[in-house]
Order: sequence, then C-alpha cells, then structure tokens
Amino acid sequence: MPQKITAVILAAGKGTRMKSGLPKVMHRIAGLPLIDHVLDKVEKLGIGEIVTIVGHGREIVSKHIDKRSEILVQEKQLGTGHALLQAAPMLEDDGVILVMSGDQPLLSSETLRSLIAYHQQSGASATVLTAVMDNPFGYGRVVKEKGIFLGIIEEKDVGQEQKKISEINTGTYCFQGSSLKSALNKITPQNAQGEYYLTDVFKILISEGQRVETITTADSLEALGINDRVQLAAAEEILYDRIRKYWMTEGVTMINPSSIFIDTQVKLSRDVFIYPFTLIKGNSSIGEGAQLGPGTTLIDCICESSCQIENSVVREAKIGANCLVGPFAYLRPGTVLGKGVKVGDFVEIKNSQIGEGTKVPHLSYIGDSIVGKEVNVGAGTITCNYDGKNKYQTIIGDKTFVGSNTNFIAPVKIGQDAVIGAGSTITKDVPDKALAIERSQQKNVENWQRAKDK
Ligand code: UD1
Ligand code: CA
Repeated sequence: MPQKITAVILAAGKGTRMKSGLPKVMHRIAGLPLIDHVLDKVEKLGIGEIVTIVGHGREIVSKHIDKRSEILVQEKQLGTGHALLQAAPMLEDDGVILVMSGDQPLLSSETLRSLIAYHQQSGASATVLTAVMDNPFGYGRVVKEKGIFLGIIEEKDVGQEQKKISEINTGTYCFQGSSLKSALNKITPQNAQGEYYLTDVFKILISEGQRVETITTADSLEALGINDRVQLAAAEEILYDRIRKYWMTEGVTMINPSSIFIDTQVKLSRDVFIYPFTLIKGNSSIGEGAQLGPGTTLIDCICESSCQIENSVVREAKIGANCLVGPFAYLRPGTVLGKGVKVGDFVEIKNSQIGEGTKVPHLSYIGDSIVGKEVNVGAGTITCNYDGKNKYQTIIGDKTFVGSNTNFIAPVKIGQDAVIGAGSTITKDVPDKALAIERSQQKNVENWQRAKDK
C-alpha cells in the first residue's frame, strides 16, 4: 500500500520584516496571496490531507484558505519547530509528512514531486530540500562533511566560516511520521533567537543514528523565501517572467514582454497579440486572436475572440468578439459589449449592455443603460443617470441615431429607429421611428459686429 502523505504548511509567523498590518502569507504576487501559490502546488500533487498552521492574523488567513486546507492554530509563534508540533497529534506514524513554508511561492510541483519520490525511494527518516544560492544571506546553511549531511545552522547562529556555505535550507522537507514526532518533542529554544527551530530535528535524528538525506533543487530561484518587500518584488518578477514564457509557448505573441504583466489566474488563447505596457489581472480570459494594448489594463474581464483594446482600462466587463475599444476608453463593472461594438476615445461605460454593431465612438458617458443593436451614439452623449440620490436607467432601441451632445435624463426610454437631434436634452420617452429634438430656435442678429462698434 502506498504511504499516506500529509502536507503541513507553516503560515503562523508574523512576518515582522514585511512591516505590514497584513499577515505575510496574504501579500500578493502576480494576483494571488503567497499562501494560494503554495496551496496550488500542493493540490496539484493530489495530496489528500493538507494542514495549515496559522497564528498571526489567523482570522484573515483562515477565512481566505476556507475549505482548501485544515487549519490548526499556533497560539504563540515560538518558532518553526513549535509550529509543526501543533500538527503532531494528527500525523500518522507510518505516513510521509511534507512540510512547507507559506512564504515560498515559487517552488514548483515538479520539485516537490521529486523530493517526495527521492524520500520514499531512499527510505530516509527525513529529506531536506536544499538549494545553492549566489547570496545565501538570511537562509539556514546546510552543514556537510565529506558530503555527509550533519545539520542546518541558522543565519543568526552561523559562524564566520559557515557564512561562506552556499547550500541553503529551502525550508521544505519530507519526514517519516514517527521519526518527526519523536524528534520534535526533543527540540529546545537554546539559540540566538530563543526559538524552537524545526531545523534542530535533523541533528537529533542524526544523533540517534537515523538517516537524513538532502536533495538540491535544479533551479535555485524556486527556493526564494519572502521575508521582506524586496524579496516579495523579486519573487513577483520571477513569477511574471515564468507566466509570460508559459503563454508564449502556448501561442501568444508579446511585444517587449518585460513590460507585460499577466496574473496567475488569467487564461489566454492562441494568437492573442499583446503590445507593450499591458496588464492583464484577476480572473480574466482572452479569446483567440484578440489584440491588447499598448498601455491597457484589464481586470477580471472576459474578452472574446479578435477584439482589439488599445490604451484603455477595463474592469469586470465582457467584451464581445470583434469589438474595437479605445484608445482611452474606461469600461467599468457590469459593462457588456455585444459583437462588433465600437467604443472610441474618452468614453466611459458602466453597468450597461451595448448591442451588437453599436458605435459609441467619442466623448460619452453611458451608465445603467441598455442600448440596442446598430445604434449610433453621437459624440458627447451623456446618460444623466443620477439625480443626487438614486440611479436610473436609459433604454435605447435598435438602429436609433443619437445626435451629438445629447443628454438623456434617466429614467427614459427611446424606441427603435428613432432619431435624436443633436444638442437635445431628452426628458421624455421617444416612440419608435420618431424624431425628438429639444433645443431653442437659433436667432441670428444681423450686422452685430457693426452695431457693437458704435
Ligand atoms: C526558515 C528556516 C531556514 C530556511 C528558511 C527558508 C527555521 C528555523 N529556519 O527561516 O533554515 O533557510 O526558512 O526560507 O526553520 N512560522 C510559524 N510559526 C512560527 C515561526 C514561523 O508558522 O512560530 C512560519 C512562518 O509563517 C513562515 C515559515 O514558518 O511561513 C518560516 O518562518 P520564517 O520566520 O520565515 O523562517 P526563516 O527565518 O525564513
Ligand atoms: Ca522565511
């Protein structure tokens, strides 16, 4: 029978070096909190039992994790060894325990899979995932003699000679359940930080004649631990780079990729073309052949195939196939554009449906509206949806022509095939096929200039 694997994620620490009101594991990179990146990797391995140790900011962290993991509380944050001890009662003696830190978002599922496989094949009591770093500062150093692992020394306890050791502890390990439990009960806080170090269990296991193995990550970038905001930014840059490379291999073209930022959850399709300075964030999905940017921000958007969005900001909106948006459009939550809609420059749309083939080409505000198909909305048209207290709806029927500089005082309903004269302020409903015009008669005063000179 294959051994049962339990993953324990340590996420109770305060994250003092972040200098933040937010618990460290809730800080985001590429759209997701650090803890989500770790959970994603563990879930990918198909590990049935996941336990997260929370403490500092536990309400926020547990609420966020919700049902993705069991939650255990470490009341006082007395160190990583003390954190793992909280899970001890629920760990099976003959199971394998995968221990990870909530602050290491870049470890890949492949690396974790090789750690577990190596641990199971070697039959060791514990296996430490290590990495070789150009700058090992801040990490626990892996002490070896003639290739034999002796233990881990923390940065704050490290001597001058050991400072040069470039092999570091990633903080990710596999243990045999019974060995881990007995060693955890023996650690003491006799060190520079007065903490119960998880890393002390290796010395204990070795002194008891048990075997501890190490395995080194091929890509040391994966081991990056987030302790401060400089490391947070560095990890995000690495992740964005990985995401860009992934999508390029999936058939997406990017011009000047390093200026393009795509969040973890975003889904792109083949032949999407992305120009520089474009951000695609949140749960966005982009259809085949869409052209995005330059200078465009999309947040939680669905963009269907072959739409083009240039120099615009689009949030919680749905853009139909073949739409042309921008430059300089601002589409806000609840905007739904049908197929082939054109939204031009300096147009803001909010909570509105715009029918297939309709054009809103210049300088308009459309809010809380339903606009039919093939409507032409003239430059400067405003839906006056707010009376200072409440919001009201504007409805415009198919094929209606709205002259420039029209104000619709909502609530108001315009029929199909109607025409609104330019410059009108429309306060009453307009029937199908009617012309509505609301403006005072033009008066020309002849010879005005000469009269003035007298
Ligand atoms: C730890 C390791 C170090 C390793 C590094 C890798 C120890 C003693 N040191 O150091 O060898 O190189 O990770 O990144 O383990 N946590 C708790 N409860 C606590 C303290 C910490 O849950 O009481 C959690 C933190 O939330 C964090 C993880 O444990 O997710 C690691 O703690 P952190 O303080 O970041 O340890 P490092 O100093 O980075
Ligand atoms: Ca850390």
